Amino acid sequence: MERFEPIVAIDVPDKREAVQLFDKLSNDTDHMPIIKIGMELFYAFGPGIVKQAKERGFQVFLDLKSDDIPNTVERAMAQLGRLGVSFVTVHAVGGSEMMKAGLRGLKRGAAEARNAVPKMLAITQLTSIDEQILHNEQRINGTVMESVQNYARLADESGLAGVVCSAKEIEAIRQVTNPNFLCITPGIRLDLNNHDDQKRVVTPKQAAEMGSNGIVVGRPITQSSDPVAAYKKIRHEFLGGEHLD
Ligand code: C5P
Repeated sequence: MERFEPIVAIDVPDKREAVQLFDKLSNDTDHMPIIKIGMELFYAFGPGIVKQAKERGFQVFLDLKSDDIPNTVERAMAQLGRLGVSFVTVHAVGGSEMMKAGLRGLKRGAAEARNAVPKMLAITQLTSIDEQILHNEQRINGTVMESVQNYARLADESGLAGVVCSAKEIEAIRQVTNPNFLCITPGIRLDLNNHDDQKRVVTPKQAAEMGSNGIVVGRPITQSSDPVAAYKKIRHEFLGGEHLD
């Protein structure tokens, strides 16, 4: 099973703080994390912040959770393909046509810039959506897990590389997707009692045991007094002694 280095979510509002974290986390060049840049940083600082991470040798997970009509997503993804990032995200709720169009754009942009094609991951149901919202607002019958399964299958059939999901959803997703389909899991804590606003958390070790291909970790690293030590501990728990290329 393909497993990635831990993905560190750099959810900070200012560039100096982000770059400081890049510098700290790039110290140990043998075990560089993947850097996740989300809407907050990208909307403020644009492709420049991606470039700063890439210059330090990081792979970048650009988490913009795109969702629009197929033509718009195709063109937006062509731009992201040119940026040289390693992962991008779209909402599966946009539909199979949108996901396929996005993938086409991504491949086109990457080919034009001679970049590797980034892995496109789908967002199924956000972990903030509970059954009440599912039923009363989205008017979807059934359970959140069934909806997650449905969107994961749709993403797989549309040719996407995987989904971002809760570790607790992996088993259900694996029942309906191809064996290489990636499950990338946020909601990770070393100490399960300290979970910030995340409702359901697992440890890095549990995520590995549950079949996660990659963990997304934010505050336990970025808010730590020693982000590098926290990262190393989390990496060790998730990957053990494994050395990845
Ligand atoms: O700080 P923390 O480890 O909770 O951050 C988790 C990261 O994963 C954040 O960037 C958050 O946006 C992202 N994420 C999540 N749950 C999802 C999808 C993404 O927590 N379902």
